[in-house]
Amino acid sequence: MLSKKIETALNKQIRLEAESSQIYLSMASWSETKGYSGIAEFMYAHADEERMHMLKIVKYVNERGGHAIITDLVAPPKDFKTPEKMFETVLSHEIFVSKSINDLVDITFTEKDYATHNFLQWYVAEQIEEEATARTILDKINLIADTKSGFYMFDKDIKTMFPQDQV
Ligand code: FEO
Repeated sequence: MLSKKIETALNKQIRLEAESSQIYLSMASWSETKGYSGIAEFMYAHADEERMHMLKIVKYVNERGGHAIITDLVAPPKDFKTPEKMFETVLSHEIFVSKSINDLVDITFTEKDYATHNFLQWYVAEQIEEEATARTILDKINLIADTKSGFYMFDKDIKTMFPQDQV
């Protein structure tokens, strides 16, 4: 059985993962309208992955005798200016999510909930991957994005970097 404190913290994370999915879906849509088809595919896949992150917690909370709450969500931005700025937002968002996971892990220690502690290890590892992916993409953009042909290659290349390939 989950303590109230853990249940509340996990529900907060459910909401954050759902909002992450919406942010990446909005990025996918913006990229598609701008003709960045490779980036759009990457972002659609990323949005699906965040939904999977959310569902895993929903099922865990309910399995442990809690109640996973599905709430309204903060609307994501519609316009991301440039791919570079967009991926800077991805990186800072993932750093924010990592902090939230770390805070959750902290609470499992104070609540002595080692089952939830174990459950969260998957997310700890996943966040390392997500931050690394965002950093790699930003490095690539910084290397090539100044040229039109470089950007064309990047947009093709990013299709091979779908988040699910790295789970
Ligand atoms: Fe589920 Fe990208 O954090």
